Amino acid sequence: MTRYSKVIGTGAYLPSTIRTNEQISETVDTSDSWIYERTGIKSRRIAGPNESAASMAEIAARLALEAANCDANSIDLIIVATGTPDRVYPSTGCLLQQRLNIKNCVAFDIQAACSGSIFALSIADQYIKSGAAQTVLIVGTEICSRIVDWNDRGTCILFGDGAGAVLLSASNEAGILSTHIHSDGEYEDLLYCPNPQVATELNKHETGVINMRGNEVFKMAVNTLGKIVDETLEANNMDKSAIDWLVPHQANIRIIMATAKKLKMSMDQVVVTLEHQGNTSSASVLIAFNEAVRDGRIQRGQVVLLEAFGAGFTWGSALLKY
Ligand code: ACO
Repeated sequence: MTRYSKVIGTGAYLPSTIRTNEQISETVDTSDSWIYERTGIKSRRIAGPNESAASMAEIAARLALEAANCDANSIDLIIVATGTPDRVYPSTGCLLQQRLNIKNCVAFDIQAACSGSIFALSIADQYIKSGAAQTVLIVGTEICSRIVDWNDRGTCILFGDGAGAVLLSASNEAGILSTHIHSDGEYEDLLYCPNPQVATELNKHETGVINMRGNEVFKMAVNTLGKIVDETLEANNMDKSAIDWLVPHQANIRIIMATAKKLKMSMDQVVVTLEHQGNTSSASVLIAFNEAVRDGRIQRGQVVLLEAFGAGFTWGSALLKY
């Protein structure tokens, strides 16, 4: 019998503080209309001074556990995707394990920038399918606001904070149908965030903020996401029309619309959260997925395509039967 990874619970957390485009326009030379027209974003959430990647992850994880009616101690693997970990080490995964008071599980972080949650889903799926794990908690959690240069209008308009979680369990019923992940380090200088604490002579003047050549990233994202859609459909011998929902990484509405067009999908079948959340990097796909599960749009048995693109470059997809 085929062994699948099945979604048994989802959760998400967004900090309460809202930062609007108008507020950003007070400090950099931009406007609400420019930001909204070019990105689809109106506002984003900003974590409070006492919040961290681990504290937000805990809230999202507890909601996923509650939705699955599952005890934290049944988790045997935690994978946290984050580019803004509380500490270099221990991993945010270990900090989350401690917060959830789980004694016997493995926990680690992965770093794939905005594609982090898709990479985590792919790893979790391999563990479950091979029999190495039974129940896996995946969390994408990000405090992007602390690595954004609030004087750089090219990046500060885009990012927001939040966490999304999904709980997977081994099942004989169809769940994750396939995952596809890719990396290409050749483009590292188009989108990066330095770690000044380990600077070398070459980059010792860099600060720890996001640097992005937005327009070039934009073009790469549109092309690459088009290709990943084809790859996913082909691997499953599936027609576009079989997909009920697209849950894309929330970076820019124009990138999302290009992928929907490629799939010949109406925007009614696309889960869009970025208007009031911005780009929450590795958290965005899981936050959007949670929203559409909880409001009843995504129903059991439907086919859902999740996809993302981010720094590295990294990109990937996960096709699942919910
Ligand atoms: N307000 C007003 N003008 C602006 C702003 C702003 N906030 N930002 C840039 N501009 C100006 C530029 O200076 C430029 O002016 P110029 O023509 O006088 O030189 C003009 O607008 C056009 O700039 P572009 O960069 O070409 O604008 P574009 O339409 O590409 O939009 C944006 C910029 C929104 C950043 C877009 O490129 C984008 O979304 N890129 C992709 C981001 C992304 O997907 N990242 C991947 C995931 S993130 C991760 O992995 C961490």
